[in-house]
Amino acid sequence: MTKVLAEKLRGIEEVFWLSASDIWDIAMKFKKEISEGLSGKSSLKMLPTFLQAPDGGETGTFLAIDFGGTNIRLQLVELIGQGRFAIRKQQSFLLKDPSGAYDYTSQDATAEVLFDFIAKQIANLLEHAAACPLGLTFSFPCRQIEANRAVLLNWTKGFKTSGVEGQEITGLLEKALAKKGLHNVNPVAIINDTTGTLLTAAYCNPCADIGSICGTGHNTCYLEPNEPPMIINMESGNFNKFPLTVYDRSLDRASEKPGEQLLEKAVSGRYIGEIARFILQDMARQGLLFQEKKPGFVSTANGISAGDLALMLADDTPDLIHISHWLKINGNMITSTPEERQALKTIASLVTTRSARLIGATYVGILQHVDPELTQQHVIGVDGSLFEKMPGYRTKVREVLQEIYQDKADRISLALTKNGSGIGAAIAAATCTGKRN
Ligand code: BGC
Repeated sequence: MTKVLAEKLRGIEEVFWLSASDIWDIAMKFKKEISEGLSGKSSLKMLPTFLQAPDGGETGTFLAIDFGGTNIRLQLVELIGQGRFAIRKQQSFLLKDPSGAYDYTSQDATAEVLFDFIAKQIANLLEHAAACPLGLTFSFPCRQIEANRAVLLNWTKGFKTSGVEGQEITGLLEKALAKKGLHNVNPVAIINDTTGTLLTAAYCNPCADIGSICGTGHNTCYLEPNEPPMIINMESGNFNKFPLTVYDRSLDRASEKPGEQLLEKAVSGRYIGEIARFILQDMARQGLLFQEKKPGFVSTANGISAGDLALMLADDTPDLIHISHWLKINGNMITSTPEERQALKTIASLVTTRSARLIGATYVGILQHVDPELTQQHVIGVDGSLFEKMPGYRTKVREVLQEIYQDKADRISLALTKNGSGIGAAIAAATCTGKRN
């Protein structure tokens, strides 16, 4: 590797690396934002959910809808009790057709069209099943009015459907259900996916008090112990008291909503590929990489995905042949130099490591708020593709807890809580209808 290239990479590493003392600093700022958000205003929305943790005794069959990404999922979930559950039926639908036939997430789509589409899918799923109470996981910032009433404050994750912001969501769904004649399908609960993840983790383990999503989007909720105890959806993706790099600023400026969701833009799957692309663009401009021919993905918005970063990180071959192949397919680069391939891997590592460490810092901030001496066991339920699939990600979050809490760190566990959105919606529905064994 040339000296200039190595120096440039070292410089980038310096701005992306968060030491244990940086982590502590960010955690303390996060803790302060929690207190300020609870009593007034902060970058954390701190939205009350009116829900407490379940005790595992909730039972019954519920229709769960998971709405939070471009894929919407309908499930019939049976809660068996004693922390056990089973998925009886399941179907998924795309809100955005890959060939461009429709896009219910775009500004041209209306609330009516979107919810009519969802009601149609519910009608199809329930064709051969008895109607049952419905739990809706709606993974956007919402002000909760009652357990089954919540108003969308603002879209995130690139959603732009018209006429939904400022509206009460289950009301929109009920109208669409009524049009389809589905009068016996009753939305009894509406929750965030982080709440669903915490409910699911707590259904199986009474020590669970934090729920988090590290996927396309990012957010965390926790059980606020003050009387009465209640799950609070922090909307932590909007946290903004951490150091931003020039690349974060470029990404933010080019985003749909500049100035908003800064933590989410630094850590989540929807954005981290783009951060890596901004770094590569900078290096290519300086003539440090791709001197022969600049590959197209460098100047194409979203030319690199989080999945691509995962592929780069997972390439342990001596010549980085998987990255070489990726460059051939995605960048039309018949040949690439070992330095270019190594630079890609290093950048993928810097960006994802910072993501994991920033998220770890926010977990420390929450723990410092709820139990500063760490006198109790804590389980953090986490779902999402980054946490589940990004090579080394979970270990990196764990390392942060280890660095800060040292021998007390074994009082905290990180539990992969898959399908928290679906199971959690069913648990919330059970809690709201009082169904127990
Ligand atoms: C939303 C949150 C959600 C998170 C994960 C964010 O963009 O604002 O409500 O929990 O994505 O899906």
